[in-house]
Amino acid sequence: SRTVKLAIIPGDGIGAEVVAEAEKVLDAVTEGSGVAFDKTRFSLGAARYLETGDTLTDADLDAIKEHDAILLGAVGGVPGDPRLKDANIERGLLLKLRFSLDHYVNLRPSKLYVGAPGPLADPGEIDFVVVREGTEGPYVGNGGSIRTGTAQEVANETSVNTAFGIERVVRYAFDLAERRRQKLTLVHKTNVLVHAGGMWKRIVDQVAQEHPEVAVDYLHVDAATIFLVTNPGRFDVIVTDNLFGDILTDLAGAVTGGIGLAASGNINPDGAFPSMFEPVHGSAPDIAGQQKADPTAAILSVALMLDHLGLTGEAQRITRAVETDIAERGDASRTTAQVGDAIRTRLQA
Ligand code: NAD
Ligand code: IPM
Ligand code: MN
Repeated sequence: SRTVKLAIIPGDGIGAEVVAEAEKVLDAVTEGSGVAFDKTRFSLGAARYLETGDTLTDADLDAIKEHDAILLGAVGGVPGDPRLKDANIERGLLLKLRFSLDHYVNLRPSKLYVGAPGPLADPGEIDFVVVREGTEGPYVGNGGSIRTGTAQEVANETSVNTAFGIERVVRYAFDLAERRRQKLTLVHKTNVLVHAGGMWKRIVDQVAQEHPEVAVDYLHVDAATIFLVTNPGRFDVIVTDNLFGDILTDLAGAVTGGIGLAASGNINPDGAFPSMFEPVHGSAPDIAGQQKADPTAAILSVALMLDHLGLTGEAQRITRAVETDIAERGDASRTTAQVGDAIRTRLQA
């Protein structure tokens, strides 16, 4: 029998509520399967910062690294909370994890399930994956400001793009496209961001030569948002930079039935570090603590995690249970726990 060491970071706001349901489903699907999940809970996030002043210490990071995978709910305090003004939980915790654990593939699948309450009148089939670069771009924190707070302030936030960093994520995207419908769309803004965009385009064109069966397409990010709404069926694999991928995947979530269904994996494909699975959404302070959050995204993130760990049968059982639940959920309003219970019940059925 196999033991998987799982680090769990429930985080802030609805994070703990959705992670509780994800754990329920994980426990049920692995029961009697010969795979045991040995869980360690890490109390990290805005609440921890307010208590101790720490976001993610070296000791936390070292302990997390000892695990095989990470399940995260969401992090981020209540916007405008004056006690958090000197903290940046997003950078200090979430991005620090993604960067330190070299999560260079941020994998964000979007699928319109039958019965999902999408906003499009005639969506057709939607089934694509955004491969968002996870360790570079404008996210690296290469910036600063001078004369801060004055009328003469200058603030810079420099996007960092390396040939190494782009090539590895582009290769991953092509391999994924091979296993899917052999279509890859690069999204960037090469008409304006000529330096970084030019390098992305050149690297995609180079790697494309090794994948003659993959049809390669390019869209500027603004046009990509049009097609995500007017013709989402045209997409199979989208590869894009860190910031564009962030924006596109909230839109993709909305188009496929709501951000409460959108799952993600922060993957270190080399396996040098544990990969981290989390819903695309945040801590949703507007509905936190009210059992209003949809835990489906967190549950589907567990499916992505199981798939990554090679537990494909278990992953499929979750995906099927979610599919059936979505098909039959109608517009009945259920609590977070009721959705988790319903999905767990469908697993066992
Ligand atoms: P958000 O995703 O938390 O919320 C946006 C909207 O979606 C809100 O109206 C919210 O109620 C709704 N929503 C989100 N998840 C839902 C769910 N599971 N079910 C139903 N509705 C849901 O984004 P935001 O408001 O921009 O950010 C809030 C905080 O979360 C900020 O501190 C932000 O930095 C942080 N954040 C964290 C992550 C993460 O941990 N991965 C991701 C995004 C935002
Ligand atoms: C996400 C979030 C994060 C991001 C923030 C909270 C740092 O929006 O996971 O999509 O921008 O990547
Ligand atoms: Mn986001």
